[in-house]
Amino acid sequence: MTAQPAAGTGALLDRPRERDPLLAVTGLTTSFPDGDGGRVQALDDVSFTVQAGRTVGIVGESGSGKSVLLRSILGLIDPPGVVERGDVVFEGVSLTQSSEAALRRIRGRDISTVFQNPAGALNPVVKVGDQFVEAVRLHERVSRPAAYERALALVTDVGFDDAAALMATRPYELSSGVVQRILIAMALVHGPKLILADEPTTNLDVTVEAQILDAIARIQVEYSTTVIIVSHDMGVVSQVSDEIVVMYAGRIVEHGETADVLTRPAHPYTRALIESVPTGRITAGTRLPTIPGTPPDLSRLGPGCAFAERCAYATDRCVTQTPPLVPGTHTLRACHNPLEAVAP
Ligand SMILES: Nc1ncnc2c1ncn2[C@@H]1O[C@H](COP(=O)(O)OP(=O)(O)O)[C@@H](O)[C@H]1O
Ligand code: SF4
Ligand SMILES: [Mg+2]
Repeated sequence: MTAQPAAGTGALLDRPRERDPLLAVTGLTTSFPDGDGGRVQALDDVSFTVQAGRTVGIVGESGSGKSVLLRSILGLIDPPGVVERGDVVFEGVSLTQSSEAALRRIRGRDISTVFQNPAGALNPVVKVGDQFVEAVRLHERVSRPAAYERALALVTDVGFDDAAALMATRPYELSSGVVQRILIAMALVHGPKLILADEPTTNLDVTVEAQILDAIARIQVEYSTTVIIVSHDMGVVSQVSDEIVVMYAGRIVEHGETADVLTRPAHPYTRALIESVPTGRITAGTRLPTIPGTPPDLSRLGPGCAFAERCAYATDRCVTQTPPLVPGTHTLRACHNPLEAVAP
């Protein structure tokens, strides 16, 4: 089972404004020292909202600021990194203004995370069932049998047929794909309202990737959990997301309903990302399409559009004025010469 993208007709742009989002990120700007006395702007004026029950995919090449965005939302930017400006409001509460203790509570119960490289997340020699029961009892006073029953149900819900047998195994006996699905089940133990998944399928083969995306789609259906899934791969986010946010050099360059972003992207970078998704069967020796050029050095970003050097549509204005993220015909996009205005 894989969630189908919602039919897009610019629906994101028509969204009623009065509905309070579960998460609202406004003007978030995060920097790190560049080692040369200056600062690297890893996240630059990022704003978006997430409505409850939706799955939002965040996509962009490596280094575009996706992980920094998730860490900034969670209040996990360690010095000398700094969230310089902006606000993150979750269920009406500002996380950027919250105390560390309050943030820890929210991270423990309301917002769960799933990361790349699941290997280190579980103790390799302690039975899965015992670790799961501990995870349940970390924040709740429930008996061990009750915690075990909950764990069994969650493991079944992410697509394992024989949950009891899996509980009796030790992580070192399992593949990293199976461990990742167990971690997705564990992320659900306290009934979080929001799950942040950072590259949950990266470095796993396509069959395992499909199982993990299936687990994420099941969560969406069974628990109505809101999900933000981050990947460098447009193919991954497009399979499970209701809407897609495209990042480039620390900024959002396009945001829209999945169907709109995939079928009528307005930003040249979005189109390049879509075209870089391989079609057909990949075998050893298949050359994967890539976007010509490389992402810019964030410590040397000047005015203008960061994509200009790689963009076939760049004009003089593109190198002097930073394009703002504004509504276009179907999506929000930050481009002076959007594709919707260019003859096909
Ligand atoms: N701990 C750090 N120290 C210095 N710079 C960092 C740090 N973390 C991230 N950055 C900067 O932020 C950029 C974006 O990083 P990241 O969010 O990890 O990218 P990705 O989109 O691949 O997840 C990096 O290219 C780097 O310039
Ligand atoms: S603003 Fe200019 S350089 Fe940037 S993506 Fe649009 S056309 Fe290309
Ligand atoms: Mg990352």
